[in-house]
Amino acid sequence: EKGTYPHFMLKEIDEQPFVIRKIIQKYQDETSGLKLDDDIRRAMLEADRVYIVACGTSYHAGFVGKQLIETLAKIPVEVHVASEFSYNMPLLSEKPLFIFISQSGETADSRAVLVKVKEMGHRALTITNVPGSTLSREADYTLHLYAGPEIAVASTKAYTAQMAVLALLAFDTAKQKGIALDFDPIQELSIVANAMEVLCNQKDEMEKIAREYLAETRNCFFIGRGLDYYVSLEGALKLKEISYIQAEGFAGGELKHGTIALIEDRTPVIALATQEKVNLPIRSNVKEVDARGANSCIISMKGLDQSGDRFVIPAVHELMTPLISVIPLQLIAYYAALHRGCDVDKPRNLAKSVTVE
Ligand code: M6R
Repeated sequence: EKGTYPHFMLKEIDEQPFVIRKIIQKYQDETSGLKLDDDIRRAMLEADRVYIVACGTSYHAGFVGKQLIETLAKIPVEVHVASEFSYNMPLLSEKPLFIFISQSGETADSRAVLVKVKEMGHRALTITNVPGSTLSREADYTLHLYAGPEIAVASTKAYTAQMAVLALLAFDTAKQKGIALDFDPIQELSIVANAMEVLCNQKDEMEKIAREYLAETRNCFFIGRGLDYYVSLEGALKLKEISYIQAEGFAGGELKHGTIALIEDRTPVIALATQEKVNLPIRSNVKEVDARGANSCIISMKGLDQSGDRFVIPAVHELMTPLISVIPLQLIAYYAALHRGCDVDKPRNLAKSVTVE
């Protein structure tokens, strides 16, 4: 039930700090660090390459998963859109492990790939919010998201839960491989949960940004580099699916190769700046769009912020930034849709789970 909330989406955005704490509680083990199935551990250790397969928001979480697994566990990862995979299958490695990410566990495009790779004799792990779901039953292993039912069509808490679980999996694999890390995922996720709470208490500011930048516009661009680019894709998907504003996420450096032609006077460009190594390059991209008349809005992270930034999120570990930088984007999309009188929880032409290919 929605309780006092006007929409499930807003309730689910607010639930994110609790979901992260729940994930900590479920996966934390007092003695050995993390509670993870030995079979999953073995599958990760034996894999020479991980193939992440998913759709929509879960696909976007997959990109962050790639970064986490490659950085911490040092296993190469490919991320694929499920609907493309079957028809355009990449050359597989000798010992692939497939990871299916799916909130519902019922997405037909992802299931079609699962059936195919199982027939080929490969192993599969499903990361899902619904343990008894088709993708969970048909895969060899399951990791549960513990996000609680997600009702709004626009996925919010499942996305952050997916990234949190992927971070734990990446860390655990690194530990099993004997890789020394100065990264304690439980501690970092606790910091994330607190930061999420701070952001969820700043809704007025998000409503203002939505009004200022998106009230009249037909389109909106999201830009970022590195992890911020992946979150830009998710910010754009949230905005388009519920407010019907045409929105696209771009890698900051790619703008000048074509997309910058679309920048007109007052075109909103929302830029993320949460990664130290790309903080200056993304800011030069903002200057480039500003010079063409864009209405830019920089969302940066504390410590990397500069005067003139529109919003500053609390500081968290560099690898954890997507879990919190997405919250302003979820809220901006929510308020933009609300201001336009859209049906936030049930946007047109969409279903919560897509059970046809
Ligand atoms: O249940 P799944 O995670 O497999 O769903 C995948 C997509 O259909 C889903 O994420 C969709 O993109 C959302 N409506 C995005 O908010």
